[in-house]
Amino acid sequence: MVVNVLFAARKDRWPQYEGPLHRALADAGIEAHLATDLTPALTDYIVYAPNSPLQDFTPYTRAKAVLNLWAGVENITQNETLHIPLARMVDPGLTQAMTEWVTGHVLRYHLAIDTDIRRVDAKWQPRTVPLARERRVVILGLGALGCAAAQTLIGLGFDVTGWSRNPKTVQGVACLSGADGLEEALKTAEILVTLLPDTPATQNILNIETLAKMPSGAFIINPGRGPLIDDDALVAALDSGHIAHATLDVFRVEPLPTVHPFWAHPRITVTPHIAAETRADTASAVIAENIRRSEAGEALLHLVDRENGY
Ligand code: NDP
Ligand code: OXD
Repeated sequence: MVVNVLFAARKDRWPQYEGPLHRALADAGIEAHLATDLTPALTDYIVYAPNSPLQDFTPYTRAKAVLNLWAGVENITQNETLHIPLARMVDPGLTQAMTEWVTGHVLRYHLAIDTDIRRVDAKWQPRTVPLARERRVVILGLGALGCAAAQTLIGLGFDVTGWSRNPKTVQGVACLSGADGLEEALKTAEILVTLLPDTPATQNILNIETLAKMPSGAFIINPGRGPLIDDDALVAALDSGHIAHATLDVFRVEPLPTVHPFWAHPRITVTPHIAAETRADTASAVIAENIRRSEAGEALLHLVDRENGY
């Protein structure tokens, strides 16, 4: 039987995905008709992205699942027209990209790369640079991305603590959970990486009170989502020097408005939501596997729990 797959992510992504999706579906043994303009009543699966023009799923009466190309699903979980399973993206290519991005920015802070680069007129002042094992990195969020980043940082020798909603065991990581766990994690976070989803429970998780629990001179790296951090509280903590520097990849409004104080702040590095993009080749294999599973009556991978919001 031929399955009809609607590519409903932005049309400018289609040239990038058309070939890889066709190949991945064929490799999975699925005979598929793939298009950007299928009749809703004939559509079996919807390959989706939250910035797609498709927001009303009501006419898709035959569709069996929405397969999201993004890891983050905060813009779809509340969609009241969506009543079929929603799978988010866990893509090996995206995971690798995030691990590299996080590792790069952790090393920038750990090695004080900005400070140690000398210009001809600067003081020649050698120092003993600390080793990774002397540095505590805390990762908020021990999901697909947090765990992968943790494993690489552990491989480099960092002392890694992670925090998640449910208690977890991750090899080499001191795992904490719950409100007490958050406090304990923050207290020793010399470098804090936020890899939580944006849900009602995680919004403003870094606020005046929680930032105050971090050690003086700590660094923050946020590739998770903008609303995890209270912007004003962060600026205040940076102004006072309590937080030494922050690297922010994600924002409440993107692109970050030119008037936003983050741009001009000397202790903030802004990157334009580039930490990790979904890769068409690896993500297509994930989409095809989920269609295969659905057609075979097997459970989908990476299903979103819409009540929890991730
Ligand atoms: P996962 O769903 O795999 O992991 C989420 C983690 O957050 C889990 O460990 C989960 O805990 C934890 N968590 C969720 N809610 C809470 C809570 N209330 N309290 C404590 N812990 C909580 O997501 P991914 O790792 O795949 O992705 C994380 C986020 O990264 C995405 O949601 C997205 O926002 C962002 N992202 C950013 C990108 C970028 O380019 N900047 C690219 C891709 C993703 P538990 O394990 O107990 O469920
Ligand atoms: C994602 C992202 O959620 O790119 O995949 O932020």
